[in-house]
Amino acid sequence: MTQQDGYVAPLRPAGLINRLAASPRFQSFAARVPVLRTIARREGAALFDLMQGFVNSQMLVALVELRVLHMLADGGATPDTLAARLNVPPERMTVLLQAGAAMRLLRRKGSMFFLAQRGAAFLGVAGLEDMVRHHTVLYGDLSDPVAFIRGETTPALANFWPYVFGATGPMDPDISARYSKLMADSQTLVAQEALGVLPLKGAGQLLDVGGGTGAFLRAVRARYPALQLALFDLPDVVRLAQLPDDIARHGGSFREDALPDGADVISLVRVLYDHGDDTVRALLAKVHAALPTGGRLLVIEPMSGGARPDPHTDVYFAVYTLAMQTGRTRSAQEIGVLLSEAGFTKISPIATRRPYVAAVIVAQKL
Ligand SMILES: C[S@@+](CC[C@H](N)C(=O)[O-])C[C@H]1O[C@@H](n2cnc3c(N)ncnc32)[C@H](O)[C@@H]1O
Repeated sequence: MTQQDGYVAPLRPAGLINRLAASPRFQSFAARVPVLRTIARREGAALFDLMQGFVNSQMLVALVELRVLHMLADGGATPDTLAARLNVPPERMTVLLQAGAAMRLLRRKGSMFFLAQRGAAFLGVAGLEDMVRHHTVLYGDLSDPVAFIRGETTPALANFWPYVFGATGPMDPDISARYSKLMADSQTLVAQEALGVLPLKGAGQLLDVGGGTGAFLRAVRARYPALQLALFDLPDVVRLAQLPDDIARHGGSFREDALPDGADVISLVRVLYDHGDDTVRALLAKVHAALPTGGRLLVIEPMSGGARPDPHTDVYFAVYTLAMQTGRTRSAQEIGVLLSEAGFTKISPIATRRPYVAAVIVAQKL
């Protein structure tokens, strides 16, 4: 509705379908016709979910911070019991537990609450709890979303990931350890997703550039024990890597240093989306130079849906990388253009089962 001087004009968006969807008269007609009623209900629920998304997320943070899921892992409890343990007024504890059950993280039976299958799965995903805790930084940055989207704020998230601004000198060891752990924990899922589709048979040596503390390499080793492996990352990060002795470690910056040669496969796992196009172009040129003819590059990260916007990557990852201020969530097509500018050919996106965890592109140097 547009409102001027108290007069509310009926909204007439372009296109017949949109005009009907916006019309209160059509909405009440649709509510009476069986097929239309189903569509209308589904759309209504979807709109409601969009509106309440922030409340879901915040109640999830409360459940995580209070460790409610852990407390229910061994058996059920009443709101009163948990309220006393957690120093929360009982009636407010009931609201939180009821919300948790509505989100299917918990299950309610009578006056008792139990951990539900979804809650157990949540606890089983390495790093997910830490990621939820870490989101308070992002939510703070989004507290004025209009100012944020106008670029008028200074997001705190940018400071959480100091390397994206090109840190080359010594970094605060606590900070290196904190972000490296967050990345390494969430790497389990990424590696599962990528290794399920990657063609690594027949490869000789894989160099993981920006490989953090080596979590991806550990997963590769478990699946391809004969493959030689090497890690390249900032010196302070490589120092934290816990890897078998036969995995080479190279500390350096891909901004200033050449990449080590010898690998016929190079991987960039969740690296490109941290950086702007100029940094990515320079990095891809270095990767191309380090590979032999016939060598392959693997780009593994969540990607935008491009012309077909994706409900996860084009909301969560696009906004997250925007808050980081340096990179962006690119589509496979945009990455393909950068790869081809760097001289790569045979650029092939490979579908993964969970694109919100990671998508994969393989490209070759010919
Ligand atoms: C988002 S993390 C991804 C880590 C790992 N690949 C993963 O998926 O878990 C990006 C990585 O790039 C590394 N990085 C950033 N700038 C770098 C640079 N200039 N040279 C080398 N590594 C860099 C960071 O230290 C960090 O480990």
